[in-house]
Amino acid sequence: MPGDAFRLEVQHLVRHFGGRAVVDDVSLRVRAGQVTCLLGPSGCGKSTTLRCVSGVDQQDSGAIYSDGELICDGKTSRPPEDRPVGLMFQDFALFPHMSVADNVGYGLRGPRAERRARVGAMLERVHLSALARRYPHELSGGEQQRVALARALAPRPKIMLMDEPFSGLDNRLRDGIRDETLEILKDEGAAVLLVTHEPEEAMRMGDEIALMRDGKIVQQGAPYNVYNAPVDKAAAAFFSDINVIRSEVQGALTETPFGQFLVPGQPDGAQVEIVIRPQHLKIDFDRGGRGPNPTPREGTPARGVVERARFMGSESLVEFRMDYDGSILKAAVPSVFLPKPGMALWLMFRRDRCFVFPSE
Ligand SMILES: Nc1ncnc2c1ncn2[C@@H]1O[C@H](COP(=O)(O)OP(=O)(O)OP(=O)(O)O)[C@@H](O)[C@H]1O
Ligand SMILES: [Mg+2]
Repeated sequence: MPGDAFRLEVQHLVRHFGGRAVVDDVSLRVRAGQVTCLLGPSGCGKSTTLRCVSGVDQQDSGAIYSDGELICDGKTSRPPEDRPVGLMFQDFALFPHMSVADNVGYGLRGPRAERRARVGAMLERVHLSALARRYPHELSGGEQQRVALARALAPRPKIMLMDEPFSGLDNRLRDGIRDETLEILKDEGAAVLLVTHEPEEAMRMGDEIALMRDGKIVQQGAPYNVYNAPVDKAAAAFFSDINVIRSEVQGALTETPFGQFLVPGQPDGAQVEIVIRPQHLKIDFDRGGRGPNPTPREGTPARGVVERARFMGSESLVEFRMDYDGSILKAAVPSVFLPKPGMALWLMFRRDRCFVFPSE
């Protein structure tokens, strides 16, 4: 049964190319006024998923519904123009021979006065009323992007599909446009499926993130949860650099240079990986060869020597060569602190920020 409350519901979508399942049993639900970001590395099947929802491509199996109404399944399929869908892609080509106003009005039907009113309202919404008579080549990249957004939203689509819509814009412009776009999307109340391969963009834009890998959604949830409770090492690594310590289980515990970790449910002899982001390593000074005392919160400290330190603005990235086995650990520290190579320091793992996974 399709869920009544979901503006967009994708059920068990499968799409093969050359015998390979490029989209492999993808299910997604997006409510009106919510943004779900489909996040994943290049080639994992994000655009293909979006193309099946828009109707420019056809799935091999699975069904898509909007507000409980069937859009397509294995047997029937509404053509792209009959789907309640707005599209905005990376190369959101505007029609070059049409004015800004005509571009925005392109998908509108109905009486002329109504269409004009809607174009006027959309141009106002994206702060481009003054440029209504210009042509695309007379606009900046950011302005073109806003016209494309207005054009996609003008017909009041129930579902908005966006594929890397900001990737053509330079960095400083992008943040402002992302925030403004989000505000407009929220006002319009469409269910938004936004494809990106940038975790920062997904966290900034998404009410939910659907993390995709090899055609499958491996984790879905609020950005906070996906970041703070990754399902596996690769999910953790997709959002930031990570440090990994390998160790063996004995009696539901594993011993590491940073103290013992609980590993309930793992049999004796199992190999596990303790994963921690560089932001969650704590650093303390060396006191004549000794470090700080162990604590329950931070475990046992281990000593390392600074190999490299880079100033990154708001933080410094420091690489340590660890005394215990010569491996490298990375720590991110506030940039007021930029230690010199060769300096010995003690590292601690913030226990509540560690993830323990069975070895792959
Ligand atoms: N029409 C097609 N014919 C054959 N293979 C295809 C076709 N379209 C996509 N693929 C393959 O399917 C896989 C997924 O492609 P897709 O465009 O969905 O990836 P993506 O996640 O959007 O990647 P990117 O972030 O690089 O845009 C890729 O390996 C791609 O080569
Ligand atoms: Mg793509």
